[in-house]
Amino acid sequence: MTFLFNSDARRGAIFADAFAKALPGLPFSMDATQVDPDAVRYLITWTAPADLARYRNLEILFSIGAGVDQLNLAAIPDHVKVVRMVEDGTVRMMQEYVLLATLALHRNLPAYLHQQRQGIWSPMPQKQAEQRRIGVLGLGMLAQAVLDRLKPLGFPLAGWSRSPRDLNGVTCHHGEAGLRAMLSATDILVCLLPLTPETRGFLDRDLFAALPQGAALVHVGRGPQLDQAALLEALDSGHLSSAMIDVTDPEPLPAEHAFWTHPKIILTPHIASVTQPESAAQAVIENIRLHLSGRDPIGLVDRTRGY
Ligand code: NDP
Ligand code: OXD
Repeated sequence: MTFLFNSDARRGAIFADAFAKALPGLPFSMDATQVDPDAVRYLITWTAPADLARYRNLEILFSIGAGVDQLNLAAIPDHVKVVRMVEDGTVRMMQEYVLLATLALHRNLPAYLHQQRQGIWSPMPQKQAEQRRIGVLGLGMLAQAVLDRLKPLGFPLAGWSRSPRDLNGVTCHHGEAGLRAMLSATDILVCLLPLTPETRGFLDRDLFAALPQGAALVHVGRGPQLDQAALLEALDSGHLSSAMIDVTDPEPLPAEHAFWTHPKIILTPHIASVTQPESAAQAVIENIRLHLSGRDPIGLVDRTRGY
């Protein structure tokens, strides 16, 4: 029985150390050329290797990240469990980023950065937190953690998911009617949806039109969820005030892309949250223990939903 690690060597060394301490009986390898493919029961990777079929006894494929859209789920044999990364480090980083982004947009930072570059000193009217409604698309692991972190700041909070949810201090919406209701009452929209066929192109012209005049966007889901032309149109017409964008399609954007220099956009290179190897190794070890004791691992992907 072997655990195969297919990611960068720096993280691999941290995993190897943690595995040697916690699961000394489980051989750990970072070199696919040196393992007996029949011995590989667990694989951690970002994308599935082209020769995945050679691991005939694979039981769990762990995604090294929280998302699984980079995996072609249809090409992974049915008996293999696909498990996404659910670990404290990812959660903490996403909380920090969304806090940073919502505060930046709430306090008009894109406009002040633009003024600074032009040598303009000009205070703008400032809304209070109670007057700035935040709506989060998705109410999963990351969205719930982000909402918890935003609570003490006093923003009215709402969220939207596929199935009904009940969260303390958050107005929860679901379904098509719920989406419209939330959008019409959202000043800062945060996208924390997984990329699936239903969410591809989701942030489009209609959605932006359903937001109130002056609303802003924080996009931390996945690049292909955003219709970039629709966002530019909404910003340039003044319907949306600003956006903080962490994920794009493609990544990176081409050098001439309008997002690089747009005065109403703050762009970051997909760093909202990055898997932290120390806590990720502990989460994977715990999942292997759950699996060995006959229980489902945490973060088990529902292949029919795609997340
Ligand atoms: P979860 O799987 O825990 O939650 C997903 C949420 O989205 C659920 O609430 C789900 O609804 C909702 N959802 C999914 N599809 C739809 C739909 N069609 N309509 C309405 N709601 C829907 O995911 P996480 O919170 O862990 O992560 C979310 C995403 O964040 C990841 O998939 C990844 O793309 C992105 N991410 C980005 C990072 C970055 O650095 N920018 C880092 C890590 C993740 P329901 O509750 O009903 O199932
Ligand atoms: C992830 C990511 O899915 O970094 O973990 O986007």
